[in-house]
Amino acid sequence: MATKTKINLIGQGCISSLIATRCCCEKLRFTQFARTPESLTVEHLTYGKIHLPIPQQLNQDTRLDDIVILPLKAYAITTVLQQLQAVIEPTCCIVLLHNGLGTIEIAKQLYPNNHIVAAITNTAAFRSNKTIKHTGHGSTYFGTVHSGNISTATIEHHYSMLEKALYDAQMLTEILPALWTKLAVNAVINPLTAIHDLQNGGLSAPSYVKLINQILSEILTLAKAKQINIDHSTLLKTVNTVIYDTQDNFSSMQQDIEHGRRTEIDHINGYIVQQAEKMGLQVPTNKRLWLDIQKLEGHL
Ligand code: PAF
Repeated sequence: MATKTKINLIGQGCISSLIATRCCCEKLRFTQFARTPESLTVEHLTYGKIHLPIPQQLNQDTRLDDIVILPLKAYAITTVLQQLQAVIEPTCCIVLLHNGLGTIEIAKQLYPNNHIVAAITNTAAFRSNKTIKHTGHGSTYFGTVHSGNISTATIEHHYSMLEKALYDAQMLTEILPALWTKLAVNAVINPLTAIHDLQNGGLSAPSYVKLINQILSEILTLAKAKQINIDHSTLLKTVNTVIYDTQDNFSSMQQDIEHGRRTEIDHINGYIVQQAEKMGLQVPTNKRLWLDIQKLEGHL
């Protein structure tokens, strides 16, 4: 089993390309799939300049087993999971890897027999023409969100493969607090940098302190109501650390707005608003940010 496990990567975005680079350089068995495959080069902080193999296109005869990683934008996940229903085997381990929340429920509905993993990463990259530039090291956390019909031994083996393929990766038995911490980091940094057209470091200005605390307080009230175990001081410390560590980067949402692309706001502040409404809670600051980004996207 050890040498045969295959990692299937869906899409050719920045994170997918970084994982493909690692698989190439660490000699892991993998295939990358893309709708319109391109020849891309990665300028990698560890491995240098790597020309990636051109991805394959999925067709009706494709069968995906072992591990399928979906490093896609959150809003693309539902459609892609629906399209893959004909090709993903029930024994396959499905890994959701994106900013924001709201896709786990959909994956469980569409794939009740599969083992489903949620992952988050702080590794950073951006694309410039045909080049993916790896701009920052950062840890990755993953964990089970749905147990499928696979043996414990197989899951353990798949997890050791994920630890090799992902960046500074660690399996957590309790993944929800990590997912909510990342949700909070994105709920602060992404809309504020997009609205004010800032690099992440711009949010360390004293004028943002009150607003950041308001965003986090609303998320904490919601998390508490959902029995997710996170606390204000750790969350604030994590947000400030990410702002500092990524001070020279432009967030993914700032880049999406600048390039006229759809953002992940519906799965970040939008998700917080929808979950709060379901629980009868008010989250006015997060709602304002959701509406402001929708306006910038041209939806309102
Ligand atoms: O979406 C992003 O840009 C990143 O998740 C983060 C951590 C906010 C850093 O820019």
